[in-house]
Amino acid sequence: MSDRVTVSVIKADVGSVGGHARPHPLMMQKCVERLKDGVRAGTVDDFYVTRVGDDINLYLTHTRGENNKDVHGLCWDAFMDATKVAKEMKLYAAGQDLLTDAFSGNIRGAGPGAAEMEFKERGAEPIVFFMADKTEPSSYSFPLCKVFMDPFTTTGLVIDPRAHEGFKFEIVDVIDSKKVIMSTPEETYDILTLLGDTTRYAIKRIWSKSDDIGIGAVVSTEKLNISAGKYVGKDDPVCICRAQSGLPAVGEHLQPYMFPALVAGWMRGSHYGAWYPCSVADSDPVFFDGPPRICAVGMHVSNGKFQGLEDPNSPVGVHEPLDYFAGSCWDEARRSAVKASMYMRRHGPFMPAVLGPEEMEYTTRPAVLSKLKERMEKLE
Ligand code: 13P
Ligand code: 13P
Ligand code: MG
Ligand code: MG
Repeated sequence: MSDRVTVSVIKADVGSVGGHARPHPLMMQKCVERLKDGVRAGTVDDFYVTRVGDDINLYLTHTRGENNKDVHGLCWDAFMDATKVAKEMKLYAAGQDLLTDAFSGNIRGAGPGAAEMEFKERGAEPIVFFMADKTEPSSYSFPLCKVFMDPFTTTGLVIDPRAHEGFKFEIVDVIDSKKVIMSTPEETYDILTLLGDTTRYAIKRIWSKSDDIGIGAVVSTEKLNISAGKYVGKDDPVCICRAQSGLPAVGEHLQPYMFPALVAGWMRGSHYGAWYPCSVADSDPVFFDGPPRICAVGMHVSNGKFQGLEDPNSPVGVHEPLDYFAGSCWDEARRSAVKASMYMRRHGPFMPAVLGPEEMEYTTRPAVLSKLKERMEKLE
């Protein structure tokens, strides 16, 4: 048996109640049933099914590595079952993220998003799972830079000898469909030169530079990858972060979300709004299909399975993670996020409330320009 464990989060929006708001509990139940079958068949070792807004998130542990056909196929089947339920109930956008009728061995490129990391389990393996709705993968660039590059956020970069060595960043260029690996702290300014452009660059992975740790963070960037040459837009991304002992502490991972940064993607995928940190239960988008939600839940990976607050003898799949943003401490950030989002809304259809023209998910511009072709005159 491999001494390495793979943690996969595979997510899709396959329909929801109340507009783009919340998957029906029966859809989640269908996923649970499929994944239970997957455990029985030995495809995965453990699972947990949750959601953020209208996106179903399947958390899995296994020993098959990233991009495994059987693991991805299992998730595809779970999403197909959930879609069937959503279609029967005529829920909104049933099957939205399943872009193909025939699964061809890998979820990447087929619609769902995936963040996967393989590592050797440490003595304790605390993991923070971030899940966002109504936004895009590059939204994680700002908080991840704060966490892995900024000593005023992560004191560990100064005082933890292994974190002090720095990190390697895999950065993807979604326009040219390229990637580059860069290193902190020496290339910090160059990295920020790229990542500041959230329309083109996003973080895919971050590794520790210390020999004995490996991967630190991974973000789902699927739709961006398949859309070589063309920006497709938001993907309601997930991000898995390992924590402590040479990596940023859990609290360091969470701190950046006290600032409700403006991110792209709410309402018709076409607006900027402030990230609203909240519990999973509070992740229904209730104001202008938002504001864009960010949830963070914590579990350990222990002997190849998840361990949260549940009884350690619970059956596989039964988990109770820590819900970090549920507490009143985050009320302050939520209030600021609503305030900032209301401020943006007051701009109506004007930039910067709406995205730049290349990024709009909806547009009438070509039709309007074509209608005006004859009337449009050259300036003197
Ligand atoms: P403890 O001393 O409570 O283990 O905390 C260490 C730590 O890293 C907190 O961020
Ligand atoms: P989702 O991507 O979460 O389905 O939201 C679509 C949208 O545009 C809501 O206004
Ligand atoms: Mg939706
Ligand atoms: Mg969504």
